[in-house]
Amino acid sequence: MNNNKIDILLGLQWGDEGKGKVVDALTPNYDIVTRFQGGPNAGHTIEFGGKKFVLHNIPSGVLTPGCVNIIGNGVIIEPHILKGEIEGLQKAGFDLHDTLLIANRAHLILPTHRAMDAANEKALGKMKVGTTLKGIGPTYTDKTARRGVRIGDIRSDNFREKYEQLKQIHLRQIAGMDFDMQGFQLDGVDFADYEKLWFEGIEFLKQFQFIDCEYYINDALDKGKKVLAEGAQGSMLDIDFGSYPFVTSSNVIAAGVCSGLGVAPSRIGKVYGIFKAYCTRVGTGPFPTELFDETGEQLRQNGHEFGATTGRPRRCGWLDLPALKYAVMLSGVTDLMMMKSDVMDDFEIIKVATSYRYQGQETPNLPFAACTETMEPVYREFPGWKEKIEDGKQKTEGRISEALEAYIKFIEEYVGVPIKFVSYGPDRTQNILRP
Ligand code: GDP
Ligand code: IMO
Ligand code: MG
Repeated sequence: MNNNKIDILLGLQWGDEGKGKVVDALTPNYDIVTRFQGGPNAGHTIEFGGKKFVLHNIPSGVLTPGCVNIIGNGVIIEPHILKGEIEGLQKAGFDLHDTLLIANRAHLILPTHRAMDAANEKALGKMKVGTTLKGIGPTYTDKTARRGVRIGDIRSDNFREKYEQLKQIHLRQIAGMDFDMQGFQLDGVDFADYEKLWFEGIEFLKQFQFIDCEYYINDALDKGKKVLAEGAQGSMLDIDFGSYPFVTSSNVIAAGVCSGLGVAPSRIGKVYGIFKAYCTRVGTGPFPTELFDETGEQLRQNGHEFGATTGRPRRCGWLDLPALKYAVMLSGVTDLMMMKSDVMDDFEIIKVATSYRYQGQETPNLPFAACTETMEPVYREFPGWKEKIEDGKQKTEGRISEALEAYIKFIEEYVGVPIKFVSYGPDRTQNILRP
């Protein structure tokens, strides 16, 4: 055994920070990339050479030849969606038979989990979470309730029985809700037909290697292999520390890596934390720095802020430093990465929230009430940098504009962690490394 550690990359806001792009850019330094939580609620975009890929269940190391990609035990899998994703990559020339490994202990999202997700959202009415309707909440609920079905079960003789048993539980629950199961469709397909597609997905997945990822990853680390854990969603959507109940149903912070892969806390190495130079959120829930004006629209248009999974317009607003600092604290972030600085290239003025006003007092912390109430932000203003970083320029001149550098330094000082990586475009090469 040696002292080799697993590195982690996490979203520090409400998701969609650009994790896919950065994981892909970092993958040449790693032998293994692994997801540890979440499921097809994630949409991770990777662009290079004018091509664009969006990954949902598969780790973002998959586009780098030779990299092994693991779907860890903490992830939940929708077989039909995963099949489609694998086939799409195959068509694009990426064969995953030797490079995709799936943890036996990963739980399955059943079609009825997705129906439950829709039924729950309907029942919540105005208080709905605005989920991705991928069955995330109900699947993690069944995992915790100790009645879930796992990848390792699909080769067993009684798999169909286990499936039926769980399906019947769901149907009984749904029958007690105001929800029309007869007319229910999944991705435009009638439920009964979708169920067939789901089972085709199950058969399809049997060609892949199922592993005990806790042994696989610890052995790989022992042998000196470089491993990167890829987070999904963002810290403010964490089941414990996000704006509950407007959150996802897994631990997306660094702690989730330990339970989501079977790796001890002492084996965690670098923690890369990634954030946009502003903020976005999809779905319901408080968003203190949200902008409802032209500036918000400008962020949405310049940043193409429309969901990679659902296509929904993302809510946009200024950078929220108390929330960022909170996320850095929760995961012990060692290196920060700032994304999408280019989106504000033409802004005259840029604001960042440095504290909140709550019950007549100013506070740099997130009070408990911030889960459900929108705090009033206190802003600091910066002049815009009004300059576009040109590809290759930073390599020859070794600098970024003074105004952007001032913005970066302010964030670093506020949060107490260096920003090592600045991304100024969607392509995997559009990055500046800072010393
Ligand atoms: P993820 O879920 O964290 O992987 O992020 P998404 O893929 O959902 O959303 C990020 C979006 O921003 C994608 O469309 C990326 O191609 C794009 N993107 C990533 N980094 C940058 C950047 O620095 N500038 C711009 N303009 N777009 C970026
Ligand atoms: P990536 O990995 C942004 C949001 C949903 C909803 C809440 C709960 O691409 O950053 P769920 O379907 O998980 O039960 O929805 O979480 N959400 C995301 N928002 N990016 C994501 O993933 C998200 N995954 C879930 O919009 O508000
Ligand atoms: Mg996304």
